[in-house]
Amino acid sequence: MDHDHGEGVNELFQVQCHLYKHIFGFIDSMSIKCAVQLGIPDIIHNHGQPITFPELVSKLHIHPKKTCCLHRLMRLLVHSGFFTKTKIHENQEKEEEAYTLTLLSRFILKDKVTNLSPFILALLDPVLVSPWQFLGDWFQGSELTPFEKAHGMGFWDFCDQSPEFNTIFNEAMASDSKQMSLVVKDYSPIFEGLGSLVDVGGGTGIVARIISEAFPHTKYTVFDLPHVVANLPDNENLKYVGGDMFQYIPPADAVLIKCILHDWSDEECVNILKICKEAITSKGKEGKVIIIDMVINQEKDEHDVTTSKLHFDALMMVFVTGKERDKKEWEKLFLEAGFSHYKIVSSFGMKSLIEVYP
Ligand SMILES: C[S@@+](CC[C@H](N)C(=O)[O-])C[C@H]1O[C@@H](n2cnc3c(N)ncnc32)[C@H](O)[C@@H]1O
Repeated sequence: MDHDHGEGVNELFQVQCHLYKHIFGFIDSMSIKCAVQLGIPDIIHNHGQPITFPELVSKLHIHPKKTCCLHRLMRLLVHSGFFTKTKIHENQEKEEEAYTLTLLSRFILKDKVTNLSPFILALLDPVLVSPWQFLGDWFQGSELTPFEKAHGMGFWDFCDQSPEFNTIFNEAMASDSKQMSLVVKDYSPIFEGLGSLVDVGGGTGIVARIISEAFPHTKYTVFDLPHVVANLPDNENLKYVGGDMFQYIPPADAVLIKCILHDWSDEECVNILKICKEAITSKGKEGKVIIIDMVINQEKDEHDVTTSKLHFDALMMVFVTGKERDKKEWEKLFLEAGFSHYKIVSSFGMKSLIEVYP
């Protein structure tokens, strides 16, 4: 690049601007977190019409000296496509600007099944943001994960020892899993007619409850670590069992493992899958394992989809020992665990559903 030439300098500054965009990506994340904390999307929604800046201020409990800063936050969030600004007529002479929701901010309204606010608050909680500071050091050190370097213990032990973070994390998982209700009926060929199903690492049971409402004739078990399922009430066809999936999984016709295997290394996954196999074959029956997780497919997926999948892969590297896998990597795990065949039957959003048979 010719630095003395005008065009060359312009290009340099364009690159610099582009670099700033990457450096400051976290400002977009934190601004969205702030909007969620202040409840701005729901305030705009409940207003029922575009909300002017003074109206928005009157509904927020912010310090009077911060009003002009709120205006700057809203300007940034409009610029990043989280809200839009329109012109409204207050009266015949006066035209005012007002904010409305976009598809993005509509997505996280409290009463929407797509509400990912708990996910935003958890993933951008200091507990999960601080490990990123250690990524470079971690590459050169011996700790298992950057999370462990930041907090002195592994992710699941941290959840066990911090009831507050345990609740934040489980609510985040549940908010992501609620979206299963949008597609569960499409899964009839997979869930219809099962005598029993155990949801391994089923968290607080949101997925099992969604499936049990759609397919009520199956007996459901939600299996997770004792501190996750403690005090959760059973109902007629759904019970909670606490335990460690590396030791034992309750027998059932089908084992569901949703967003579990991506948390673990290949070796750990093969161990889990072997125990899943025991659980579906223990009564002399040949059941199936149903996996819901991502499958990286860079050739076919749109660029944005791959970006999100690679972001999740990085999350798995920073928090736990897992990773997101492509089809070949999945197949290797199934074969090593002693399964004979598998089908990737469908996908919803970024996740795929894989049936695996003994
Ligand atoms: C990423 S969350 C997925 C939760 C749920 N399946 C979903 O999709 O919403 C992983 C879950 O695995 C559970 N887990 C971690 N280690 C486990 C173990 N050794 N045995 C059983 N469950 C475990 C965690 O407590 C957590 O609920």
